[in-house]
Amino acid sequence: MVRTGVEICGAGYCYRTLIGSGLLEKFGQYTGKYLRGKTCAIISDTNVARLLASRVKESFTSAGFKPTLITLPAGEKSKTLRQVATICEQMTAAGLDRQSFVVGLGGGVIGDLSGFVAAIYHRGIPHVQIPTTLLAMVDSSIGGKTGVNTRDGKNLLGAVHQPSLVIDDVEILKTLPPREFNQGFAEIIKHAIIADAKLFVKLQSWDTRASPKLQELVRRNIKIKSKIIASDEYDRTGKRAVLNFGHTVGHAIERAGNYRKLLHGEALSLGIVAACAISLKRAGLSSKQRDAAVNLLERFELPTCLPKNFPRNKIVSALKFDKKFESGKIRFVVTPKIGAAYLTDTITLDDIREAVSDL
Ligand SMILES: NC(=O)c1ccc[n+]([C@@H]2O[C@H](COP(=O)([O-])OP(=O)(O)OC[C@H]3O[C@@H](n4cnc5c(N)ncnc54)[C@H](O)[C@@H]3O)[C@@H](O)[C@H]2O)c1
Ligand SMILES: [Zn+2]
Repeated sequence: MVRTGVEICGAGYCYRTLIGSGLLEKFGQYTGKYLRGKTCAIISDTNVARLLASRVKESFTSAGFKPTLITLPAGEKSKTLRQVATICEQMTAAGLDRQSFVVGLGGGVIGDLSGFVAAIYHRGIPHVQIPTTLLAMVDSSIGGKTGVNTRDGKNLLGAVHQPSLVIDDVEILKTLPPREFNQGFAEIIKHAIIADAKLFVKLQSWDTRASPKLQELVRRNIKIKSKIIASDEYDRTGKRAVLNFGHTVGHAIERAGNYRKLLHGEALSLGIVAACAISLKRAGLSSKQRDAAVNLLERFELPTCLPKNFPRNKIVSALKFDKKFESGKIRFVVTPKIGAAYLTDTITLDDIREAVSDL
């Protein structure tokens, strides 16, 4: 049953996110309320397809759609232009046209990839997101950023293509391995630190995977992210940039570990620790609140120190690949107190170096 939802509107678009539990059998029916096309491609990865694809396909078929299932190997390595081309060719072979739509059934990798396919197929067709990881529900399915990686780095090619509908069924998260589940909390803790002090307090006593609480958590995080995006749709004023809190160092750590050693949320956790250390020094964050943030990350079994043997020296050199280093100037997000954040250009590379060496 859909218990709740959020309507997300911005410049020239409006879409709904439906949030509930046990929605799977009705995915097709819900989609039918928002989309007119009859043919669609359900894009998924091997892990998710094994668990869900036949039931999801059946749900679309029984709602009168003609779905074609396209499955890719699970993992970040599938997020390539080559995969995009293969998917598009399969879609053409299946007779999909300008009236068709794409359903992304999976985590953030599938969301980014299927969204990019939807953005370019026949110059753009609708995209339905069915996120299956916590990270994808609270973060990557919202905001319309889609894309793929290249040899030179992550998300270097892409398009902004808003979904037409997002369906979050928290029941699907039951099969998510604990490490994947916990990494979603890194983005949730980030949201709490930058914008919602009450959520931060709630998380301090969080001890459940129970469905109603998870639905409320997903809803709250979608609201936080979409409100921030709406306040700065084109990323011009620095307001939207606060969503990058923890990501400057987090991305550098991911890159230094060749995207293999740590999951995105785990690298972000370390990035949050570094951003809190810098905020303590430069933005007036109290040491009590810094400690509370570190403790909260640990509560969700997220790393707060670099693993032994991690190639530390590579982290600072990886920083220069960051899109936030515009013409040599560092744009860094700090928090003066939990529940608030702002973008500044007063942080130096030495500040970052010091924070990284303390990790
Ligand atoms: N577009 C955005 O705004 C945005 C924001 C954040 C992250 N991202 C992207 O998201 C990606 C990371 O997303 P992710 O962490 O969801 O990774 P993912 O899509 O690789 O999923 C993680 C793993 O969990 C498996 N899985 C997914 N759902 C499952 C389920 N219900 N049960 C069992 N296993 C399941 C997948 O097969 C995969 O092995 C990165 O590529 C990142 O760049 C995009
Ligand atoms: Zn992130």
